[in-house]
Amino acid sequence: MALDTQVVFAKPASHSCDLLAVLVRDGAVASGKISDAHLNDLDHALGGLLASCAVQEEFTGKEGQQLALHTHGKVGAQRLLVLGIGKNSDADRARDALRAAAARAVKAARTAGARTLGLVWPHSDPARAARADGTDDLERDVEAIAEGASLGAYSFDKYKREKKPLKVARVQILARDERGARRGGEARARADLLAAARMGERIAEATCLARDLVNEPAGRITPAELARKAREVARERGLQVEVLGPAQIRKLDMNLFLGVAQGSAEEPRLVRLSYAPRAKKAAKAVALVGKAITFDSGGLSLKTAQGMEDMKTDMAGAAAVIAAMSLVPEIAPPFPVHGYFGACENLPSGTAYKPGDVLVGRNGVSVEVLNTDAEGRLVLGDVLAWAAESEPAAIVDLATLTGAILVALGPWTAGLFSNDDALAGEVQAAARAAGESVWRMPLPPEMEELIKSPIADLKNTGGRYGGSINAALFLQHFVGKTPWVHLDIAGPSSLDKDKGYNPRGGTGAGVRLLAEWLRRRAAPGT
Ligand code: BES
Ligand code: MN
Ligand code: ZN
Repeated sequence: MALDTQVVFAKPASHSCDLLAVLVRDGAVASGKISDAHLNDLDHALGGLLASCAVQEEFTGKEGQQLALHTHGKVGAQRLLVLGIGKNSDADRARDALRAAAARAVKAARTAGARTLGLVWPHSDPARAARADGTDDLERDVEAIAEGASLGAYSFDKYKREKKPLKVARVQILARDERGARRGGEARARADLLAAARMGERIAEATCLARDLVNEPAGRITPAELARKAREVARERGLQVEVLGPAQIRKLDMNLFLGVAQGSAEEPRLVRLSYAPRAKKAAKAVALVGKAITFDSGGLSLKTAQGMEDMKTDMAGAAAVIAAMSLVPEIAPPFPVHGYFGACENLPSGTAYKPGDVLVGRNGVSVEVLNTDAEGRLVLGDVLAWAAESEPAAIVDLATLTGAILVALGPWTAGLFSNDDALAGEVQAAARAAGESVWRMPLPPEMEELIKSPIADLKNTGGRYGGSINAALFLQHFVGKTPWVHLDIAGPSSLDKDKGYNPRGGTGAGVRLLAEWLRRRAAPGT
């Protein structure tokens, strides 16, 4: 549940709330002198208390620093929390610091049991006001703060008897009315900022939907259940939805997908969510494809006990696709958007597919299965081929595809592979703006020989070296000439401990990136 975030034009010192978080840049306090305008007002009202605390605690406003104090009724807020956001010359990084600080403020409000939280950030200092395009920045700042606050409010505690409830009933973002004067009235300025806050809330809410889907155990999110969730989202958001079972999947000749699914007692599901724009012009669609292995044991090439501890998260790509599709109606792009996933379990049994099996999938490519644990690329191969048939303008797939991408890029960065430099650039820029870390990886043609089979067109493993690259090269055989981006999200989709506004467990990786990318394609040049 997203927090209810409001925007008010108010002075920080007189605004009454339980906790007021004041976000300040590095250098806001330097050798006992306060340069930040909001902090300065508050310091005056508090008789210089802030300045002296800052000196004592060596607080300057570096990212991660904080000062907490009770005001004893000297200002409107009962407590103050001054949060450093550092100094970033890069606008995307600066905005991500706002997200992170807003999340920290909400976590502090949870600990303090605060009911009302005020948030103010350095948006009315002279340097900022002097910028010609300052107005749009203001909206994106408010969106980032609202988004960060709701992301920081998330906790997956539905199975715990003892919960730490969030008492925050209201979050108010304090803005200075620097636009009302210029653009015809306070009401209009506030409505624009409120709309920005709503968008931030909605994006966070979608991200938390993906987090929930990833965090739910595999015993509860079966393939049929994941399809049911997609159906529910479609009904709520007015999307079209098709859900296909084993017989229909067989009719589509998806034998790579069926091969993976055949070891499980749970039936597979093939799902397509669709958004159609109002104006039915002939704009080409974009396709989003997610990996949806609801549990990956490795199959007969069984994983170790430790290796499968977290394998309920192997449907994080599909979770991101479902969540991103839930945002498409409010992004309202002038082109159709389809979201695809093939959901199944990868389990060993008497009916399971075996190492050595040769499978021929929807696009006719034959695959020798050498390792049943390289199942993601098989299912994705069939689903990507199906998505490519309708000749979309672009396909973006998201998959917890390889452990090797963690070795290459660490736990927080997704690998980006693409056959199209322009599309890759778009997705990279969208990721940066959304505060998601992606790094472009190569698709070297000379590595193709690693996935050639002596008896079939391809084999499903390419050896230990460059494991995420040969997985991506494998997928490339199923997209034809369609501009395509593959995001290997095995690292960032779930974390073993909190990191900023991303919680332990499912993070919703990819949701904000996809939303941002679709918004940019919907309104190019903004
Ligand atoms: N779902 C895993 C990849 C994975 C590993 C995701 C760790 C998140 C954390 C995938 O299906 C897999 O098992 N990949 C194998 C491929 C290998 C057998 C070629 C891997 O990475 O070891
Ligand atoms: Mn696997
Ligand atoms: Zn897997």
